[in-house]
Amino acid sequence: MALAMDLVRSSEPDPINGYRSFELGEFKLTRDAYFATVDWPAKGQRHIHKLPIDYFLRAMMRDVAWGFFYGWVNFDHIFGTKNLYGTVEMYAGRYNEAYHLAGLSYVETFDEPVIMATFKAILADWVNAGFDPFAAPEETSTSVFGPKNGNNFEAIERTRLNTQRMPGVAGDSPLRDEAAYPINRHFLDVPQDDPVVRAEPGFEDQLSAFNLFKYLSRSDVTWNPSVTGVCKASLACPTTEEFILPVFHGNDRVEWFIQLSDHIVWDVQDKETGRPRAMITMRAGDVAAMPADIRHQGYSPKRSMLYVWENATPGLPDRYESGELPVYPVEF
Ligand SMILES: [Fe+2]
Repeated sequence: MALAMDLVRSSEPDPINGYRSFELGEFKLTRDAYFATVDWPAKGQRHIHKLPIDYFLRAMMRDVAWGFFYGWVNFDHIFGTKNLYGTVEMYAGRYNEAYHLAGLSYVETFDEPVIMATFKAILADWVNAGFDPFAAPEETSTSVFGPKNGNNFEAIERTRLNTQRMPGVAGDSPLRDEAAYPINRHFLDVPQDDPVVRAEPGFEDQLSAFNLFKYLSRSDVTWNPSVTGVCKASLACPTTEEFILPVFHGNDRVEWFIQLSDHIVWDVQDKETGRPRAMITMRAGDVAAMPADIRHQGYSPKRSMLYVWENATPGLPDRYESGELPVYPVEF
């Protein structure tokens, strides 16, 4: 991983547990055998918040891999980031109604390269050998806990798979190599046949088709979309999910979900306060438009396939925040 360490403020390794601590503005981030600790100034003191280290690293891995994504990435009910596209807001307690009203919240904004470099440096230091923050818990080791024990650069250097053309079309990234990407243990029943394409002579490199279910059955990561189709501002981002979405995503635009297999339970809350809004079970074939004013976290009891449809039209966050656009795509 290329680390821009000149942008990162970190300590020497702790003599007891071997981990470095990191500072971003007034925030301080430390880890020990079991917990990440975030602390920040509030009411003239330092306020601290602890997250289990495996949850913290899974969330931070998504924030880095998604480039801070659209809107809010809540690591939990207290701590997270909000993408301001060029700069990134880091917050503690700001979008938790009780903390914020108690005067314990804190927000600071950083240039994107600074926070990205720091998050990558944290992952490089805090992810131990054998632990893969992209994997489902059953598929990786518990080596995340305990004192510092090596690194796993191979796992944390994965980036999301962007395509320039449809996967499999000449000139684009190849489809998943069948030898390198075996069928996931939960998708052994997914048919692996490929569509038959008969192109007119001269159009062989322009016409293609692939089996999306086969493609997804070989995904080796969870909760990390593959952008398999781009049509202007429309992004097709199918993904495979297992266990818990490691973040509560706060939408800054409407987001569409199509459940392709199995089921996911979504905990939907108010984006600003965290007040409960809905619990939704989406089964295979269900379609949902997640509104622009919510945060959501998904629970997938076995590996499932979810088609996420994102609208990358520039300027959408401002148009929703100003009220120009309703938070729902359709008013019934
Ligand atoms: Fe979302």
